[in-house]
Amino acid sequence: KAIKVGINRIEFSTTENYLTLEKLAEAHQIDPAKYLYGIGQSKMAVPTPDEDTISIAANAAQDVLNTMTPEEVNTISTLIFATETGVDQSKSGAAYLMGLIDIHPNCRAFEVKQACYGGTAGLQMACDMVRARPDESVLVVACDIARYQQNTPGECTQGAGAVAMLITADPDIIEIDAERGCYSADIMDFWRPNQFKHALVDGELSKDAYLNVMTSSYQGYLVNGGKPLDQLEWLCFHQPFTKMAKKAFEHLSAQYPEQMADKTDAAYSISQQYGREIGNTYTASLYIGLLSLLDNAEQDLTGQTIGFFSYGSGAVGEFFSGTVNKNYRHAINTLANQQKLAARTALSYDTYCQYMYQLRDYDQANIRYNPTSGSNFRLAAIHDNKRVYERVL
Ligand code: CAA
Repeated sequence: KAIKVGINRIEFSTTENYLTLEKLAEAHQIDPAKYLYGIGQSKMAVPTPDEDTISIAANAAQDVLNTMTPEEVNTISTLIFATETGVDQSKSGAAYLMGLIDIHPNCRAFEVKQACYGGTAGLQMACDMVRARPDESVLVVACDIARYQQNTPGECTQGAGAVAMLITADPDIIEIDAERGCYSADIMDFWRPNQFKHALVDGELSKDAYLNVMTSSYQGYLVNGGKPLDQLEWLCFHQPFTKMAKKAFEHLSAQYPEQMADKTDAAYSISQQYGREIGNTYTASLYIGLLSLLDNAEQDLTGQTIGFFSYGSGAVGEFFSGTVNKNYRHAINTLANQQKLAARTALSYDTYCQYMYQLRDYDQANIRYNPTSGSNFRLAAIHDNKRVYERVL
């Protein structure tokens, strides 16, 4: 009998502050309805200079470790960190995490990159590792800060956040099916040369590439024995902005009208509730979407199958599926997740501009930007080009 593997724990984290898209629209002197409905975003997570992809990721990863016994932590054989906005060209974010979170040193730790697809690369690699060695578990952490040039069309889709997932045999939350369909091609739709802090993007090409790669990935998934759309109760899409997920739904509906006949995009918008309030989190976005669905669907999802589409510009896509386990409600911290979003602080447009575009990585004076923060970790200084993190709680 095939071993069941998948997500046993999942936690997310985001920044302490946000900007409402009404304020951004006001500053840009455009109708706020474009951002709220045309793009489908309401808030953008904004990092302070002492929040980076390591500190945000460490918060999510530690939340997973806090749910585990020391014996369970000892089963972790591998720590995979996925990001496209890492802090170092050589040292992996995973190596930084080894010094911050309560994990043991006898595991392999490394970083993976392929734009927003990296989280899925990590998840699928982890599932295959656990299929081969079911007594071991793998911690997958995905984190990004989405940053575009100021006053460009991408600005309203910025965001920041992390997700941490523990992959085990007999998972409590969702079993990931072995069937998957991948599609990779060399496409110049979104990229970030080494010397750039912000991403460069061909917006129209990126939307087309996303939809075309989705169709090819779904076809590959079917060829590999995957379930047709009418056997997938839910769909969860990569969400660069929530309107893109709606476009993905509409694209599949146009291409496969019979298989999609009983589906409404209103139902799928449950998976977009968190993303709408956080913005793009690149590698973490699909899995924050999953958490949004698990936390906010009123009905019991036990036994229901979710189809996932992961897209990373450049481009790699993957369509896969998973079935929700009966224990899922006990294994997720819905109240804590909702509180993480509710406890954030709204910024003025001017402060947002300072944090996002003027101040760079934390430097010199020891300013703690979020003194009442519930976060465990922050970037405390950069000395001699070495990043120094601090455990706050
Ligand atoms: N009221 C309501 N809706 C309005 C409106 C108003 N007053 N004004 C405009 N709109 C609507 C438009 O009709 C449009 O809707 P449709 O897409 O349904 O036609 C929507 O608002 C957006 O308007 P535009 O197309 O004019 O928007 P834009 O060109 O200014 O920017 C974008 C859109 C190109 C996607 C830009 O946000 C961008 O470059 N984003 C970054 C790239 C990106 O996220 N690409 C997605 C695919 S790539 C990917 O998924 C990987 C990744 O994470 C980056």
